[in-house]
This record gives sequence, structure tokens and C-alpha cells, in this order.
Amino acid sequence: MKVWPTMGTKVYRRFSINRYCVVFLFISLHFAYGDVSYSVAEEMKRGSVIGNIAKDLGLGTATLSSRKARIDTDRNDKRYCDINLSTGDLIVTDRIDRESLCGKKATCILKEELVLENPLELQRISIHVQDINDNTPEFSEDLISFEITESADKGARFLLTEAHDADIGTNAVQRYNVQNNEHFTINVDTEVNGRKHSELVLVKELDREKEKELKLVLTALDGGSPQRSGTAIIHVTVLDANDNAPVFSRAVYKASLPENSPLDTVVVTVSATDADTGPNGDITYNFDHVSDDHVSLFSLDHKTGEIKVIGSIDYETETSIELRIRAKDGPGLTS
Ligand SMILES: *[C@@H]1O[C@H](CO)[C@@H](O)[C@H](O)[C@H]1NC(C)=O
Repeated sequence: MKVWPTMGTKVYRRFSINRYCVVFLFISLHFAYGDVSYSVAEEMKRGSVIGNIAKDLGLGTATLSSRKARIDTDRNDKRYCDINLSTGDLIVTDRIDRESLCGKKATCILKEELVLENPLELQRISIHVQDINDNTPEFSEDLISFEITESADKGARFLLTEAHDADIGTNAVQRYNVQNNEHFTINVDTEVNGRKHSELVLVKELDREKEKELKLVLTALDGGSPQRSGTAIIHVTVLDANDNAPVFSRAVYKASLPENSPLDTVVVTVSATDADTGPNGDITYNFDHVSDDHVSLFSLDHKTGEIKVIGSIDYETETSIELRIRAKDGPGLTS
């Protein structure tokens, strides 16, 4: 502001002197007191005392009244506090919600001014709003679904959706856990920017034949006091892999047959089952290394396993016949 006196033409003089006074007052105020700052937790009740500004500025309450002390806002901030002229206390007059004022910012400062008249003085007041743990971690969806094949290897990872907590610092989400179960644990990775993301890690292989689906409770916990938490259900559908071969109901099927049995006489029906589903469990039956002579005597239904006579059975040629049958599932596991 030293510029003004050097501009001292007659036209500007009166104006520049006024400006000079204002500047002088402003500076002298700062020399007198400096900024006052207070710290207040968000969500304090209206009427709560933030601090005693009269004492902090060394002013008597009588002075406050005679100089018509009042609180003004710096720029466009809303007025969140007022001064009680009889005590000199700075009190909360409106809801101070840190999340709506500052979002995820690490520091949240409300700027207000104490105005005194005769002579006019302004005193800046900074109110640091402290976060309290008033928000709960929340998942965007209550149910998180996964389809995981039973052949997934140990160590396989599945990214989970993040839980949101409007609070900051330790009052925001700190960790995740999944209810005791033998198949999965939670791994939390902290990115360079501080964001945390969690993933489900397979620690014990799945077996669809034992358990077709799993329901796990996922919990996100913040680090506040008291601690708050939010939950979501993880639903895992275990997809089939062809990890089971067909199994015959018996190792050996025995049947006796009179010679010259009529054509289409049913000798025996073999049967195998497969624990897998769909094509992985579809079984077809075939003769396995059976001689041409025997193939001309018996038919085998590929689907039902029924063995019938299709030629003439002659006791004098053979008293006992052995047939090997192979059962095969869709992708080709056999027994
Ligand atoms: C100022 O504080 C006094 C003492 O606590 C109280 O009785 C009075 O009601 C307050 N005045 C206002 C305007 O809040």
C-alpha cells in the first residue's frame, strides 16, 4: 500500500488518505491480537461453548457491550457461532456438520470475524472443526455375488466393492473381515493414494460336490470410538468342474443265461453315476476291448447300460463270457 502516497496528485489525495486509515487499523489489529483459533468437534449442540473470546483477546465483557461486539462471517460462510455479550463466550448457533462443510478434506476450518465498533476493529477467528465418528461404513449393495469354479486354485483373488464412510482419518473404514469360514480370508491393499480396497482370497479349495454355495458375512469396520461397522452378504455359487469320474455301482456284474436264449433277452443292466453336473456328469457306456465274437452276441445301450442278447449263445463254445464295459462322462473321464 506504499504506492498510494507516491501517487499523491490533488485528485487522489483525499481518497488515498481514507484508504490509508483503513489499512492502518487493519494492521494495528493484527499487531494487537493475531488470529484467534479454536477447535470444536462437529455436531455440538446449539449453545455449546467453543471458547471465551473476551478472555482470549483480553477484553472485558463491559467493553464487548459498549463496542457492540458481533460475529460476522468471512466471505460467504454461514454463521455457525455467536458471542454471548454477558459472558464473552463464543457459542455454537447452528449445526456444524464436518462432512457437508468439508467432505473428505483432512482439515476443516470455519472462518468468522469478531467486529468491534468505536474504533472499528476486526478480529479473525478460525474454528477448526474436528471429525467425530458419526458415520457408519456402508456397502453400496447388501448382496455381493460371485460365481467361482471349484477348480479355482488356492490364492485366487476376487475384488470386493469398497465400503463408504463419510468420516475421515481413523473414523473412516480401517479394515474388513469375513466371518470364520475355512475357504476365504480378506486381504486389504492400500493404494498409493491411501484408498483401501479389499479382496476375497481363496485359502482352501472349493468342492461343489460338498458345498454348492457359500454365504459369508462381510464386515467393514472403522477405527472410531465407539467403533461403527457395516455388513454385506457375500454369496458364492460354486461352479462345477469335471473333477469326478463315473463310478459303477458294482465292480463286477454277474448274470447267468441259458444257452439258446431268445434274441433281446436282457442279460444285465450296468449303471454308473457321476457326482458332477451337466455334461460333466453325462455318462455313456461302451464295450472296452471286447472281441468281435462277443460283440456279435451282445448289444449294449450306450445311454441305459442295458445288455441284451443279439446272437446265439452256445454252451458248448463257451461256458463263461467276460465283457469289459467302460463308462465315460462328457469331457472324457472314464472308469
Ligand atoms: C449468556 O450466558 C448467560 C450465562 O450463561 C445466560 O444466562 C444467557 O442466557 C446467555 N445469553 C444468550 C443470549 O444466550
